Amino acid sequence: MQGHERCLKLFLAFALLLLQYAQGGEVDHSQRDTNVTRRCIERERQALLAFKRGLVDKSDSLSSWGSEAQKQDCCRWIGVYCSNQTGHVIQLDLSYNSEFYNLQGKMISPKLIELQHLQHLDLTEIDFNGSQFPKLFGSLTNLRYLALSSTNFGGKFPSQVGNLTNLVYLDLSGNDFTNVENLDCLPLLSLLRYLDLSSANLSNVFDWLEAVNKLPELTNLALKGCDLPSPILSTLSYINSSKSLVSVDLSLNHLSTSSIFLWLSNYTSLVYLDLSFNLLAGSIPDVFGNMGSLAHLYLLHNQLAGSLPNLTNLSSLGFLFLSNNQLSGVISGIHFSKLSKLHVMDLSSNSLVLDIHADWIPPFQLDSIMLRSCKMGPDFPKWLQTQISLSYLDISDAGISDILPSWFWSSCRNVKFMNLTNNHIRGTFANLTLEFSNSPALDLSSNQLEGPIPSFLSKASYLDLSSNKLEGPIPSVLLKASYLDLSNNKISGSISFLCSGAAIRLGFLNLSTNNVSGLVPDCLTHLESLVMLDLSYNALSGKIPTTIGSVFQIETLKLRSNRFVGQLPSSLKNCTSLRVVDVGDNKLSGPIPEWLGVSLKNLVILMLWSNHFNGSLPSQLCHLIRIQNLDFSMNNISGSIPPCLNNLTALSQKVHSSLTSVHTFPFIYVKKKRYYLYEDDATFIWKGRMQMYKSILGFVKRIDLSSNRLTGEIPSEITHLVELVSLNLSGNQLTGQITPEIGNLQSLDALDLSRNQIEGRIPTSLSRIDRLSFLDLSFNNLFGEIPIGTQLQGFDPSVYAGNPQLCGPPLKKMCADQNVQTDLSNQDKDKDELITLGFYISMGLGFAAGFWGVCGTLIFKRSWRYAYFKFLNGLNDWLYVRVAMIKRQLKDMFNR
Ligand SMILES: *[C@@H]1O[C@H](CO)[C@@H](O)[C@H](O)[C@H]1NC(C)=O
Ligand SMILES: *[C@@H]1O[C@H](CO)[C@@H](O)[C@H](O)[C@H]1NC(C)=O
Ligand SMILES: *[C@@H]1O[C@H](CO)[C@@H](O)[C@H](O)[C@H]1NC(C)=O
Ligand SMILES: *[C@@H]1O[C@H](CO)[C@@H](O)[C@H](O)[C@H]1NC(C)=O
Ligand SMILES: *[C@@H]1O[C@H](CO)[C@@H](O)[C@H](O)[C@H]1NC(C)=O
Ligand SMILES: *[C@@H]1O[C@H](CO)[C@@H](O)[C@H](O)[C@H]1NC(C)=O
Ligand SMILES: *[C@@H]1O[C@H](CO)[C@@H](O)[C@H](O)[C@H]1NC(C)=O
Ligand SMILES: *[C@@H]1O[C@H](CO)[C@@H](O)[C@H](O)[C@H]1NC(C)=O
Ligand SMILES: *[C@@H]1O[C@H](CO)[C@@H](O)[C@H](O)[C@H]1NC(C)=O
Repeated sequence: MQGHERCLKLFLAFALLLLQYAQGGEVDHSQRDTNVTRRCIERERQALLAFKRGLVDKSDSLSSWGSEAQKQDCCRWIGVYCSNQTGHVIQLDLSYNSEFYNLQGKMISPKLIELQHLQHLDLTEIDFNGSQFPKLFGSLTNLRYLALSSTNFGGKFPSQVGNLTNLVYLDLSGNDFTNVENLDCLPLLSLLRYLDLSSANLSNVFDWLEAVNKLPELTNLALKGCDLPSPILSTLSYINSSKSLVSVDLSLNHLSTSSIFLWLSNYTSLVYLDLSFNLLAGSIPDVFGNMGSLAHLYLLHNQLAGSLPNLTNLSSLGFLFLSNNQLSGVISGIHFSKLSKLHVMDLSSNSLVLDIHADWIPPFQLDSIMLRSCKMGPDFPKWLQTQISLSYLDISDAGISDILPSWFWSSCRNVKFMNLTNNHIRGTFANLTLEFSNSPALDLSSNQLEGPIPSFLSKASYLDLSSNKLEGPIPSVLLKASYLDLSNNKISGSISFLCSGAAIRLGFLNLSTNNVSGLVPDCLTHLESLVMLDLSYNALSGKIPTTIGSVFQIETLKLRSNRFVGQLPSSLKNCTSLRVVDVGDNKLSGPIPEWLGVSLKNLVILMLWSNHFNGSLPSQLCHLIRIQNLDFSMNNISGSIPPCLNNLTALSQKVHSSLTSVHTFPFIYVKKKRYYLYEDDATFIWKGRMQMYKSILGFVKRIDLSSNRLTGEIPSEITHLVELVSLNLSGNQLTGQITPEIGNLQSLDALDLSRNQIEGRIPTSLSRIDRLSFLDLSFNNLFGEIPIGTQLQGFDPSVYAGNPQLCGPPLKKMCADQNVQTDLSNQDKDKDELITLGFYISMGLGFAAGFWGVCGTLIFKRSWRYAYFKFLNGLNDWLYVRVAMIKRQLKDMFNR
């Protein structure tokens, strides 16, 4: 409950205080500093002390509450306010708990009932851990203001609030009440102006709208995430309610009929309307004609179709959020011609076409433009040039195939978030440097960078220009961003710009899949904030520079598919936070360093594949207890496989590891720290095919030592790696037998031991690995009968080829003296289960990553930052809903 609601709440609280003044119930503020002649009333003091005993006050935030002599006057206690005239406690406000206090609730003392004169009670965010809502609140009948948001009360819905007929403000949001049967208590509260029951389960209260309609004074209604059913139509025709509703938040419910719009259309004073994340489908009725006061309209993630509603009369509209619907049609400048107050335009992820004349002069100055996947191209939208105070711009996937205009960067002078990915934008960054060369913000001297950050790229923290056709070189000013993604463009030339001191705050840099070439200069000393560096798929050559050791916060390092030579620099030892290293497909050589296992203990993914590494596998690798993905394939590694493999805890034990590999890194905005998030991906050969994994990366536990020169037996310790999903030892010179306990590897989905000199029989236990869907034992010296079972006969005979002495199904060669019985039923078990399961979960997580990515960047003008957080909160809740849904799906899957 942040942002908007809190803001409103504060406002109303103040309003109420004023009201109390007017009615003679003054609140005694100034007496706190002056001499007090009158002490608080003893009974009430005792009640407050008893109330305190029901709280856990770890940080001693209620230290002013006590029985010591100097604390006698309870009217001076923090959060307690007495009537100036009567001395009675009239207000108890601990609402800043979350920010300033650290209070937990054990119980509400029954003595609280002594505070009969209490008008204002606010216990927001004191966690009562699911305990029953105290009955006694129903007896505090003088209450006008009751705020119990996020107090985590449980049990039955407290219908005793119906007793509190003086209530003007009631906030019971964020509690854990069981199914609410009815809201019959509401109409008794005829003075109510503000009502928030968000997250109460109202799924059985079919007449909720009727109850709400009986509140003649209501201005603010929030029933967010209440599982609200669609209102019964007949209740709509009995409207006898106030016309004073100003703010309505019914997001995250099950509203499905557009009659809700009709009901609302009579509230002509509406300023704020949120119906996001419902089941609203079909076209939006033409109801906005009378809503001239509407400033906030949130209709995200419904299934609204048809064309954009007629917004002509919404002359107060500041915030328009219509993303993730099925709206279609062509939009021209006319649609926005009266929206001179618009700040935020969000039409992302619909099927809209923006056909806006090149000469159009918008009536608004937008701060945020979210037009993702709206078709705006092929020309670069010229009207953007008129928007000079943009801080958020998402025109990704917008069908733009044009040259980046020279004015663009000056329009984006204040941008904090920019997403231009998935277009065909051409051109260079040439004018970016020109544009800012005279600006003091571009002073790159290190002294300047230590101070408060000046404009432009200090705020342009998130820049995603990936998947276009941009050409280099890259101006170093771009490195002032915190997040810079230029991957998949046509950038060429050297990357000497990395030496710029401008990069001192850069956290994320992706230049993969471009044409940058030459050496990486040994000057990476400024990259001290860098957490992720991806230079893969370029034409870089020479050695990996020693100064990589000064990039000491780095967690992801990807240099794959370049032309790097030489050894891994030992300075890399310094980078102890590394979790992902992929230097595959280069020309690196030398032994596999022992320090990898000693210093880089956080490694989860280590890919050295397709290089010229030689020597043997150092036993120190067994210290990598977090490793999940070890790929040394296609090198010249010799010697035996170290038997200490059972020490690789992440592969040998069920450790709680997340499905995805998510990293956070801070960016600093003046004094506040905020965080970005990114999710690793990794590309490797899986069941014979090169594939990219991201959403289920944490699930893929594999060892690939194939195509080397390993000798000796496969150590039996390998059977301890029960979490292993893929094991590839093919193309070596391994000897000995397959250990009989191979069947312990119950998670194994793919096993490749082909092209070795392994002998003996195939262990029977192998046929008990139910998940095995990829097997290759070809070209060894195996003999005897292929064990009978559900699994092994299901594979193509080629997986046993090149073992002349193997016999039995599926081979045509029969064994000499056996009655062969095979059971082929069940063979095509759901091979993709792994993927499906992970995929569902990851969708949610992927979303979270995106969400924080955005959230992190949004630092807006204070006056309307709230609206954003509101919006983002919604997404957060949505994520929760999704996760719950996914959980259910998984449950169903397993129960089937
Ligand atoms: C207390 O009440 C008196 C009379 O109503 C008023 O003059 C005075 O300002 C009040 N004091 C405070 C501190 O509000
Ligand atoms: C407070 O009360 C004491 C004793 O009653 C008196 O001496 C003192 O001047 C008073 N202070 C103020 C600020 O009124
Ligand atoms: C409601 O208020 C009446 C007196 O005003 C009181 O007797 C009764 O106990 C209250 N009910 C509840 C549930 O608190
Ligand atoms: C809106 O108000 C008018 C007149 O006040 C009334 O006739 C009509 O039924 C109302 N519409 C809805 C949907 O409540
Ligand atoms: C939108 O509403 C305005 C004012 O009511 C009206 O003049 C205009 O014709 C409407 N536009 C469309 C496309 O219906
Ligand atoms: C940028 O745009 C792309 C394509 O529309 C989208 O997939 C991605 O999530 C966006 N990034 C952020 C951080 O919003
Ligand atoms: C850069 O700006 C100059 C002057 O405005 C213009 O002539 C030139 O075409 C621009 N170059 C690019 C690549 O946009
Ligand atoms: C190692 O990291 C530290 C900071 O943790 C840094 O001061 C030092 O220069 C780095 N050493 C090398 C060899 O890069
Ligand atoms: C493996 O783990 C055991 C127990 O933790 C430890 O004693 C041993 O030294 C480890 N071996 C290697 C090679 O890391």
